[in-house]
Formats: sequence, structure tokens, C-alpha cells
Amino acid sequence: MPIGALVFDAYGTLFDVHSVVRRCEGLWPGKGAQLSQLWRAKQLEYTWQRSLMKRYAPFSTVTRAALAYACEALGLELTAERMEALMGEYLMLSPYPDVPDAIERCAGKKAILTNGSPDMIEPLVAHSGLKFDAVLSVDKLKTYKPAPEVYALALKKLKIPKERIGFVSSNCWDALGAKSFGFTVYWINRLGAPVERLGFTPDKTINSLLDLA
Ligand code: LAC
Repeated sequence: MPIGALVFDAYGTLFDVHSVVRRCEGLWPGKGAQLSQLWRAKQLEYTWQRSLMKRYAPFSTVTRAALAYACEALGLELTAERMEALMGEYLMLSPYPDVPDAIERCAGKKAILTNGSPDMIEPLVAHSGLKFDAVLSVDKLKTYKPAPEVYALALKKLKIPKERIGFVSSNCWDALGAKSFGFTVYWINRLGAPVERLGFTPDKTINSLLDLA
């Protein structure tokens, strides 16, 4: 069955979360890359842990908490002003270089399905100038990916059979969550990482979003 719509993950797939490195590096020279890595890792961990605890907090809250943890763990002093500056960076993350052309070239409906709360994802998409038919946030459901009900949000919106929805993510665990749900999955493996061992494999693994078209 042909693909009828594409659903994209946001952070790490369309937008480079590590574009915060420059600002981090400016605040704490020599620590930018390490801080960015730990910040992202904790942000994701907290989404999974909160989902299991059934203690949802919006992605903006989780992202702040992850930054506070990462700074303390690395011995970096985080003032209120620095927190706001770094959270502000999240509203203008750079799209990966392949993204604008790829979005333009892919025919059919395109949506975003993200952990990002509306207060984060909406300004980010607006800032990027990228156009989507829908931007869907887990915030409605008060749980995070890879819970199946999150992927069901896209199904409900697009109203076409699951297998005709092409789900696109660079986060392998997210790609496999979508595969487990029943979507046709494209894993964007920009870094040549091994596939996660979660009982599923992506339908296609590609290096760049440009290969999608
Ligand atoms: C998102 C996370 C997975 O955008 O990065 O949903």
C-alpha cells in the first residue's frame, strides 16, 4: 500500500537539539558539548520515568528540570538568567541542513508528532518557517512516547490505515515505538548508530531526510 502521509518526530529529527552547544559553550567554555549531551539524555529519561510514574509534566518543565540536573552534575552554576537564555535557545533550534528541501520535496500530507508541549513546539515551528498540515503534541494525552496512545493521535488525525502512514524519526526508540504501533517506519540514522534492541526493526533506514522523497 502506498504511503499516504508522513509524520515526523521533531527534536533530533527535524531540529538539532545540539544547536544549543554554542550558547552552552559561551556560558561554560569547554563544557558545551558535554552539557548538551547530558541535558538531552536526562530530558528523555525524565519523559520515560514520568510516564511510568503517571506523573506527567509538560516537556518544557521536563526540559528545565533536565538542564538543572545536568548543570549540577557537571558542577556548572546555573543562574535564573542562564536558565532562561538556554530555554530560549530551544525555541529557535536549527533544523538539520537536509530538512527544508526534504519537506518541500515530499508530496502529500505532513504532520509533526512530538513530545514537545505547545509552548515549545509552536514557537519553534513558526521560527523555522517550515510548513506542516498538523502539529500534534503528546500534551493532550499527558504521557510521552513511545506509549502507543501517542502514535494513535496521528492515526486519529490523518484517518488513513496505519500502514499508509510513514513515520519518520532519528530517535531509534521512537521509530520502533511507531513500528510496534503499526506505522511504516523510516529511521533517519545520521550518525551510523546500531539499531536499538526492542523487538522491532525499521522498515527502512536512511542517512538523510532527502532520501525520503
Ligand atoms: C520528540 C522527541 C522524541 O520530538 O524528541 O518527540
